[in-house]
Amino acid sequence: MNKILKAAENYAKSVHGHEGSGHDWWHIYRVNKLACSIAIEEGADSFICSLAALLHDIADEKLNGSEEEGLQKVQRWMRDNDVPAYVCTEVLNIISTMSYKGGNTVPMSSLEGRVVQDADRLDAIGAIGIARTFAYSGHIGQLIYDPDIKVRSNMTKEEYRNGRSTAVNHFHEKLLKLKSRMNTSYGKQLAARRHEEMEHFLAVFFEEWEGRR
Ligand code: ADP
Ligand code: NI
Repeated sequence: MNKILKAAENYAKSVHGHEGSGHDWWHIYRVNKLACSIAIEEGADSFICSLAALLHDIADEKLNGSEEEGLQKVQRWMRDNDVPAYVCTEVLNIISTMSYKGGNTVPMSSLEGRVVQDADRLDAIGAIGIARTFAYSGHIGQLIYDPDIKVRSNMTKEEYRNGRSTAVNHFHEKLLKLKSRMNTSYGKQLAARRHEEMEHFLAVFFEEWEGRR
């Protein structure tokens, strides 16, 4: 089991490397750590959670021709690395539900899936989430904030593309909503703390923006 996890770690490192838009190896590292902590608290299968966490972004559309191709790649890797068949099925199930376009609306069918999805969502919020948001914004050339762009939670893809969004808007668009989408009770606990962190950050940000602090 440990041998498989070590190999998955090396595989993820080699695929994700230093990708600059928020899906570098260290995102995978953090999601894996979180998934292990949540799995212990929730009594989930740690091996399945860890393996799914390590492989969860390999099927990402951005890295493959299509989602289908990405999933086949993950499946091939598991077969070549002697992952037991029942684990293989479960991990593919988790990854395909996570990467599904309307992924936020499809419920995870297993406890392990709920754990890994929570871990991935947690890495988008809190101090780490704040850092990733500004890194991603820099990556796509988006402003940190623009008072002329009214903060809204329903920007269209077009508006994003045309630079009509900002890093601060992304908090309203997505990050502040994640707390209420957590699956597990330990995930909810961790999300509550990370959510507070972001609210504090935003309050200070606007104070400083107006020179009041
Ligand atoms: P994930 O599926 O892991 O959430 P995404 O590709 O959606 O990954 O995003 C990678 C990181 O960049 C996340 O931390 C996300 O919150 C952030 N991000 C995504 N879209 C935007 C955006 N339009 N503006 C700022 N940050 C963004
Ligand atoms: Ni991810």
